[in-house]
Amino acid sequence: MGLYKLRAAAKINLYLEILGHRSDGFHELIMVMQSLDLADRVTVKSHVGSGIYLHCDHPQVPKDHTNLAYRAAALMAQTFPQAAAHHGGVDITIDKKIPIGAGLAGGSADAAATLVGIDLLWQLGLTQQELQDLGAQLGSDIPFCISGGTALATGRGEQLDTLHGLTGLYAVLGKYNSLSVSTPWAYQTYRAQFGETYLDLATMGADRRAAIHSGPMMGAIAHQDSAKIGQLLHNDLEKVVLPAHPAVTELKTAMSQAGGLGTLMSGSGPTVFTLTQTQSEAEAIAQQVKAHLPDPDLGLWVTQFAPIGVQLMPA
Ligand code: C5P
Repeated sequence: MGLYKLRAAAKINLYLEILGHRSDGFHELIMVMQSLDLADRVTVKSHVGSGIYLHCDHPQVPKDHTNLAYRAAALMAQTFPQAAAHHGGVDITIDKKIPIGAGLAGGSADAAATLVGIDLLWQLGLTQQELQDLGAQLGSDIPFCISGGTALATGRGEQLDTLHGLTGLYAVLGKYNSLSVSTPWAYQTYRAQFGETYLDLATMGADRRAAIHSGPMMGAIAHQDSAKIGQLLHNDLEKVVLPAHPAVTELKTAMSQAGGLGTLMSGSGPTVFTLTQTQSEAEAIAQQVKAHLPDPDLGLWVTQFAPIGVQLMPA
């Protein structure tokens, strides 16, 4: 078959702690990642001839090699040149539903779906781990975006431990459409302001990771204790992104005052989310926030936790 359609799920971080510097220039992290029902649709198909063509009608999505999905296809062609020569070029079409520059891993999710789609298209039979190893060469969030569900992510974010999947929870997402935050900026600013507090990873990194494994967040997830998870939400990057963007601080306050189990910024932001136990509660919070902050630039979404990252759809 020459065409595959995939759902590429957004993610939120229920926990993000920055431990310290890594020798590769990245940060050593501990994160709890959660897939959402909010998802892009990615179609991958072969075309006669060669080359990679990316189609997306969202004006802010790049269509060239700066797009992570394009780079995922290029990496597959470079890694499997015989398959690329045999099957011809690749057309990638992205139906964008995940807000961009949002801290929701939309670009990483599209790249994850492209890797899975080309593996099917070229009948490579790669394992999930092999696909995740390829994804890790392109971005720290891509391995999680492939498998999805609920996971503890360490290292750069690419080392994954699958956790007991959280089900039945809803998230209200709030994001100013015209605002996006650069992830490198967020980490560089954090390093400049909090670098002195970084752990010496050689002596203390393993202890800190072990403490998280036996800590309250892992316990709350194991027991599906959503009230406790709401109380334990944490993201170190809030310390640099919120002071730089007062509108996001105001949004976080408004969302938190509207109710729910807990409110947090996702990843490097600027999306803020509130967790709830029911869809009706999530919709009521979205309405209340909209009434409190009646700005046409503010986008609000209600979505559910999802058990999977990339999912094959009927063609
Ligand atoms: O891996 P990814 O391309 O998503 O990372 C984007 C940027 O975020 C990196 O270039 C780096 O500046 C920062 N980052 C980091 N440590 C991580 C993940 C990302 O410093 N573990």
